[in-house]
Amino acid sequence: MNKFPRNHWYAAAWASEIGDAPVGRRILDEPVVLFRGGDGKVAALEDRCPHRLVPLSMGTVVNGALQCGYHGMTFGADGQCVRIPGQERIPPRAVVRNYPIAERYGMAWIWMGEAERADPELLPEIPHFDDPDWGKITDGYQHHPSNYLNIVENLMDPSHTTFVHKQTIGNPAAANAGVQMEKTDDYIVAYKWLPSSPPSPMDMQIKDFGDGKVDRGQFFYFEVPCVSRVDIITMPAGLERTEENFNKGLRNNSYKFLTPETETSTHFFWMHLRNYNVGDDAWSERMRGVFEKTFNEDRDIEMAMQESQNLLGVRQMVGLEIDRAPTIALKMIERLVKDENAAAETVAA
Ligand code: FES
Ligand SMILES: [Fe+2]
Repeated sequence: MNKFPRNHWYAAAWASEIGDAPVGRRILDEPVVLFRGGDGKVAALEDRCPHRLVPLSMGTVVNGALQCGYHGMTFGADGQCVRIPGQERIPPRAVVRNYPIAERYGMAWIWMGEAERADPELLPEIPHFDDPDWGKITDGYQHHPSNYLNIVENLMDPSHTTFVHKQTIGNPAAANAGVQMEKTDDYIVAYKWLPSSPPSPMDMQIKDFGDGKVDRGQFFYFEVPCVSRVDIITMPAGLERTEENFNKGLRNNSYKFLTPETETSTHFFWMHLRNYNVGDDAWSERMRGVFEKTFNEDRDIEMAMQESQNLLGVRQMVGLEIDRAPTIALKMIERLVKDENAAAETVAA
């Protein structure tokens, strides 16, 4: 039985992480090794030498192939053994599992499910990633020692910011009322729309809104099973809510890509896109620090929750009204896992 949805692209590593040395990483509770093959592209193999089961990530990359650190068996990017020191014959079972990888947005994405279903068309869409009118902060990574469902809940729940993020983005006046929701088969969004208010001093510092008022939007998207996008919009008041108009003011798109590591830990990749202060590296670095601090505040809560959950063997005691969007997101993930397990059972039968 699978515990995680498998037939999806998950963030495996930032491309910048994969240099000359192999990188071992547990993904969906499986040991994976990432390295660059002969063509310079990122390859992913099971991180286990078929000889004595030593992790291949302890080895070295030699001419685009991965050489085991114990006796030097060497594997190509496709997982086939290409060399065994001291013997000519390559046994048929001298092969390791290869996982499909797609590189986009400076990220190596891995497909842990059925390889024939790994379609690059299914990669998440990140508008404006290559847009010269937008600035970005990439390569964000944190390790969160908590089940990824705890993190999905956190990202779909704006109400915690007042309490958890007192030192960073928390705003004591952040009212919880007025959260609306929309859902399709692929994503859920919880959002607030606050029409016609004066721009904040911070907004005014970045952009001149004149004497006019602004409309504000906060959209918390979750694309199952692993992409969160928070879209924060401040635009001149009274315009229609279209993509084009959203970009007429200040816009922040904050992405998190959640990759389950084990049942109690998660790789938390993040990036941020904005349509202002483009090319201002000092601003980017300052904001990187603020984001890191904010996500660490979430991480501390998630880690403590996980410890309680381990102790008691339950995830939650009481349901609240603020749980609506997170609960739906979790149900969507549960359905994916159920469907995949049912399909696997049918094939097995
Ligand atoms: S354990 Fe890898 S070659 Fe022996
Ligand atoms: Fe948070």
